[in-house]
Amino acid sequence: MHSLQEYQEIVANHFSQIKNNKEPKGLYEPIDYILSLGGKRIRPVLTLMASEIFDTDYKEALNAATAVEVFHNFSLIHDDIMDDAPLRRGKETVHEKWDLNTGILSGDAMLILAYQYFENYEPQIFQKLAKIFSKTALEVCEGQQYDVDFESRDNVTINEYLKMIEYKTAVLVGAAMKMGAIVAKTSEENANLIYDFGLNLGIAFQLQDDYLDAFGDPKTFGKQVGGDIIENKKTYLYLKAIDFGNSEQKEQLLHLFSIQPVDNADKIESVKKIFIETKSAQETQNAIKLYTEKAFETLEKLQIESSKKGVLKTFGENLMNRNV
Ligand code: IPE
Ligand code: IPE
Ligand code: MG
Ligand code: MG
Ligand code: MG
Repeated sequence: MHSLQEYQEIVANHFSQIKNNKEPKGLYEPIDYILSLGGKRIRPVLTLMASEIFDTDYKEALNAATAVEVFHNFSLIHDDIMDDAPLRRGKETVHEKWDLNTGILSGDAMLILAYQYFENYEPQIFQKLAKIFSKTALEVCEGQQYDVDFESRDNVTINEYLKMIEYKTAVLVGAAMKMGAIVAKTSEENANLIYDFGLNLGIAFQLQDDYLDAFGDPKTFGKQVGGDIIENKKTYLYLKAIDFGNSEQKEQLLHLFSIQPVDNADKIESVKKIFIETKSAQETQNAIKLYTEKAFETLEKLQIESSKKGVLKTFGENLMNRNV
């Protein structure tokens, strides 16, 4: 097994070679653009790590890792349309740089391209990869629909929220790891345990994403800070503030999430103040820790060398301490 830094370099190197320098440019340029912006690339790194955890050379998992990352980037293009987001990885989003139709079609093409990477595997592995991938992709759509539905609801529960983030985000993190396990032809039990590890890590990851959306540093975050507040997203921060707030804070928050001001700066500041004063910001930090630890508990059930568990734990801890 390699070090985290080595996996990151392998993935960066691999993606630097992937260029769809093809016609029509209007379709393929946006694909190369979003992929060249990089991002953290946690999902392909996890796929490669999972294959080596189960004693299979990462090179065999490269196609599956690429499929996951291309799918993820497709979902970001469409997510940015749905969230009306201007910035991604510190640069213009695809639909802003080009237009809405470009975002839709280049995104669609990426979903197909993702599937094509599985064609490099033998039929039995291909079938298993395609099966988990299709299930996961559909769940991501379901999660995304809940996310949008919740914008216009004011009675969303914590359980509904947790289901929503499990689907829109965590299942893909779990699947990224399970694909590495499938390529490695490990036992069903191991594959499911590593999936659960990824799932819980993915829940912590989305909670942290919500936290950073409000409290990240605009200079380094790479996305529009306060975007979730502008869009009235029912995040953990919001739900816990409603839960913990006194009647005045609750009323104020409900009001702020019912208006669409022309200038959002005041709305964002007021909402963030309530998140801090009600201690929902602190509670979100606690929840991030809790789900990360839950992931670590799953790890203990796996029959692998403790040095391998160590690499996965470091990965989880780094995620918790990230600021992008
Ligand atoms: C953003 O994912 C979307 C979420 C599921 C939170 P990442 O935070 O992994 O985005 P990149 O790929 O690093 O830019
Ligand atoms: C995105 O959730 C989940 C998917 C892309 C499927 P967010 O909307 O919170 O992701 P960001 O914050 O835009 O990256
Ligand atoms: Mg978004
Ligand atoms: Mg979204
Ligand atoms: Mg977000």
